[in-house]
Amino acid sequence: MEKKKILILGASGFVGNAIYKELCSYFDTYGTYFSNRSFSTNKQFFRYDLEEDDIFQILEKVHPDVIISALRGNFPTQIQAHQHLMEYLMKSKAKLYFISSANVFDAYSKYPSYEYDKTLSESVFGRLKIKIENMMMRLPKEKTAILRVPMVFGNKSPRVREIKALLDSNEPIEVFPNLIINVTNDDRLTQQIHYLINRNKTGIFHLGSSDLIQHEEFIKDVIQRMGNYHPILKRVYTTNEDRYLAALPKDNKLPKNLLITCQEIIDHHIPV
Ligand SMILES: NC(=O)c1ccc[n+]([C@@H]2O[C@H](COP(=O)([O-])OP(=O)(O)OC[C@H]3O[C@@H](n4cnc5c(N)ncnc54)[C@H](OP(=O)(O)O)[C@@H]3O)[C@@H](O)[C@H]2O)c1
Repeated sequence: MEKKKILILGASGFVGNAIYKELCSYFDTYGTYFSNRSFSTNKQFFRYDLEEDDIFQILEKVHPDVIISALRGNFPTQIQAHQHLMEYLMKSKAKLYFISSANVFDAYSKYPSYEYDKTLSESVFGRLKIKIENMMMRLPKEKTAILRVPMVFGNKSPRVREIKALLDSNEPIEVFPNLIINVTNDDRLTQQIHYLINRNKTGIFHLGSSDLIQHEEFIKDVIQRMGNYHPILKRVYTTNEDRYLAALPKDNKLPKNLLITCQEIIDHHIPV
């Protein structure tokens, strides 16, 4: 059987590159980079600038079976690029896996959110993700997968690196004591995506830890794991009541061996 062709948009970024590394031994995997020139000599990588280039040219070269979108960049041009992707999906065999975010629910605060809950966001970022999700939902279901991902922590994650830098320079670290979240880790997230691709799964998936934790408590655990630090915490209170920013699975569950808990992330994925 021929290997599936995968094209990762944003394969030079933290999430995109973790996905690339997970998939490249199993599939014929390609990726795009924008400013990170260290990929310029890699034959599997194409330079792509959302603001200047038409994604069609790369799509015509690669003819992917699966496109994974893990981009950042200017919001209006992200929308335009994804509109072009929708057009391509309609006339090709390709499926689109879109890295969305738990922020599509950030206007709701009283409960965690599940796959088929209505999205509503108060943030510009959350509304961008909703807009792209809504475009995808207009396509036949077997064409798209919406992957809602919470904050990603891991040995090499920008979030953990930032905490380490703030600790080393003795600067305050922001925590949100009233915010109840779920989190994930790059290794587990990419294994989950690998599974979804292998099984040709489409639909909506909530790819976060199966349990919840307060943001402040989680960040304190991360710091404690990193070493003997005396952090300065800046507590940011957005409301007086507990607020949830958590996307949990209910209808589209993954197998047990692919789940992760907050404690496992602390114990196994934070550098000591
Ligand atoms: N990190 C998280 O905790 C997290 C959580 C939930 C969802 N997500 C989602 O995951 C996706 C990737 O996030 P990330 O944390 O991996 O971000 P990142 O490390 O900043 O990577 C962003 C990617 O987009 C590329 N890019 C930036 N501007 C571009 C432009 N103008 N044209 C084309 N490509 C451009 C970057 O290329 P260069 O690096 O080569 O410039 C890089 O490959 C985002 O959609 C984000 O919303 C992330």
